[in-house]
Amino acid sequence: MNTILLNKISDVRQNIIEWKRQGLTIGLVPTMGALHKGHASLIKKAKETCDKVIVSVFVNPIQFGPNEDFDKYPRTIESDMQLCNEIGADAVFAPTPKEMYGDNIRLSNTDLTFVCPPYNLVDCLCGKARPGHFDGVATVVLKLFNITTPDYAFFGLKDAQQLFILKRMVKDLNLNLTIVPCPIVREEDGLALSSRNTYLSQEERENALSISKALNQIKSLYEKGITDVNVLFDTAISILNPNIEMEYLEFRDFDTFEKVDNIKQNTLIAIAAKSGKTRLIDNIII
Ligand code: PAF
Repeated sequence: MNTILLNKISDVRQNIIEWKRQGLTIGLVPTMGALHKGHASLIKKAKETCDKVIVSVFVNPIQFGPNEDFDKYPRTIESDMQLCNEIGADAVFAPTPKEMYGDNIRLSNTDLTFVCPPYNLVDCLCGKARPGHFDGVATVVLKLFNITTPDYAFFGLKDAQQLFILKRMVKDLNLNLTIVPCPIVREEDGLALSSRNTYLSQEERENALSISKALNQIKSLYEKGITDVNVLFDTAISILNPNIEMEYLEFRDFDTFEKVDNIKQNTLIAIAAKSGKTRLIDNIII
């Protein structure tokens, strides 16, 4: 099968109209490209669930802060197309920023309608260090939903806060689709897959392994009956490589996103840390 590459919103809409006319279900896998095995697992899940699968590839300028890696973010459309073709995605939608945002120069909320998720969900974890990030994510994802009108949309649990916020957007704005959370995919040594892993030197990558080790240690202590987050926090810190600069390590109820003092079922344990200059995130859900 041949995956078709679409750059124009009008071309996406034409395909969707035809698919819907045939009564087919549509799955969307939103990505920023630089596709890896983690994305592959989302596309495979979409293929299992839906008749037609569309993968969006768009490095979304409005979710990057002024000092973040928007310019440097890997853009690999040829290998992305190849992977989508191998898995059997029906279409890749890879618009330009102009196609998505028109001639707005500043791309700020003085020029553009933004989606602002609830403050208590964005002013914590990744949102604390990345002000405006989740407004940018929610805005582009709503646009992608409106363009592709999917029945199902697939998101990785690695970005657990993003997933939580997008589920909330679907609920609050009565969007007519189901979000399907998909498990984190890891390298054999435990490193969670991320397009940003390509930035890591060998030594930085080695040091970064302590992040998943710390999370695993928390899980095994919990299984032995230790639930106090202060104890678990200290243990995790003692496992993190000293060259890893921790930004946060938090324990949150994954139904409410409230902080917890004691771990129970459905607790999200999320970490963000820098190895060298590269900011990495990882988590487990108990
Ligand atoms: O998770 C990502 O890759 C991005 O945040 C997303 C959801 C594609 C929006 O740009």
